[in-house]
Amino acid sequence: MAMNPIPYGKQYINQEDIDVVVKALTAEFLTQGPAIKQFEDEFAAYVGAKYAVAVSNGTAALHLCAMALDVNEQSNVITTPITFAASANCVKYCGGKVTFADIDPETATLDINSVRKLLESHPRGTFSGIIPVDFAGYAVNLEAFRKLADEYGLWIIEDACHAPGGFFVDSKGVKQYCGNGMYADLAIFSFHPVKHIACGEGGMITTNDEALYKKLLIYRTHGITKDAVLMHENHGGWYYEMQELGYNYRLTDFQAALGSSQLKRADEGLAKRRQIAQTYDKAFAGTKVTPLEVHKDGGNAYHLYVVKVADRKGLYDYLRTNQIFAQVHYIPVHTLPYYKGLGHKKGDFPNAEAYYDQCISLPMYPTLTNEEQAFVINKVLEFVNG
Ligand SMILES: Cc1ncc(COP(=O)(O)O)c(C=O)c1O
Repeated sequence: MAMNPIPYGKQYINQEDIDVVVKALTAEFLTQGPAIKQFEDEFAAYVGAKYAVAVSNGTAALHLCAMALDVNEQSNVITTPITFAASANCVKYCGGKVTFADIDPETATLDINSVRKLLESHPRGTFSGIIPVDFAGYAVNLEAFRKLADEYGLWIIEDACHAPGGFFVDSKGVKQYCGNGMYADLAIFSFHPVKHIACGEGGMITTNDEALYKKLLIYRTHGITKDAVLMHENHGGWYYEMQELGYNYRLTDFQAALGSSQLKRADEGLAKRRQIAQTYDKAFAGTKVTPLEVHKDGGNAYHLYVVKVADRKGLYDYLRTNQIFAQVHYIPVHTLPYYKGLGHKKGDFPNAEAYYDQCISLPMYPTLTNEEQAFVINKVLEFVNG
């Protein structure tokens, strides 16, 4: 039987989501209304953080974090080459320098030993922060990164775009959820349709640091405050002060309402993703298809299901001819022309480059049916065994 095209990821919008958005469209506020704070409070509770700031997308979230941590022309920030370019770009927006460190080949996340080597081989004070990425949904061990960061006086922004609901287990046996603010200064999420929670476009910053939270609220809306306590003068009810150079990075109320509605089903979606991953794991055990290593304790949030194969291009093309639209995550950021222009070059990070040559993300989303998944598995194995 012919299959409909199968993408690598897609949103799940149900009637409840539609009803909530329609209601939000007829509410008093389309933007800057109560749906924003509601979504922020619900999201903060979901990840276990004290504060959350909703923004227009994940890239805006990263930019505001970099601003709040005073990234400037003197800053040098470490991140992974295996991520979406935005994880690095936020440093460039603020005039800083990006330094990449190689990945752990098993998980494809930033390798703490490479970061340690980098720190040890440069004068103290060279670096200002680290941006680890919970790549594909694998929650990075931030307890270990925090320890290292503290030794060198660095801040941490956790790029948790792939991992709402993901966790790692810390040295005390406690589950530490992505974005809970326990070890990172700030964490960011994206609500692009392929992510766990879809707002069309949307993003969130979470933190336990009140001072950073207050800065973010002001930067999100032009650097303007109406808080009488913060203002230098007050001319009357209309008065506001622009105290910083900020942006308009606001989310609308109807997007926030959609986010709140989606959040209600986040755990359901996560359970489905983990079930799909288990089915893939079983099917590929003992074959020429190698899945990335994941948390043995079940903490992977599976934004993506990545496997490594010898002939990645061949498999990608073969799947496309069968209407399966797998994807590649990611082209190493240091090899993108913009970053090459800044002096980075192919050959700099062998693990990241070897990973890139072999990686492919197979379809992974809550509404993928058993039949569709069986078809995908069948086609993958047909190709690698062929
Ligand atoms: C790891 C990572 N960081 C940042 C972003 C940027 O998020 P957005 O697309 O919402 O701007 C993405 C989304 O593609 C991402 O995957």
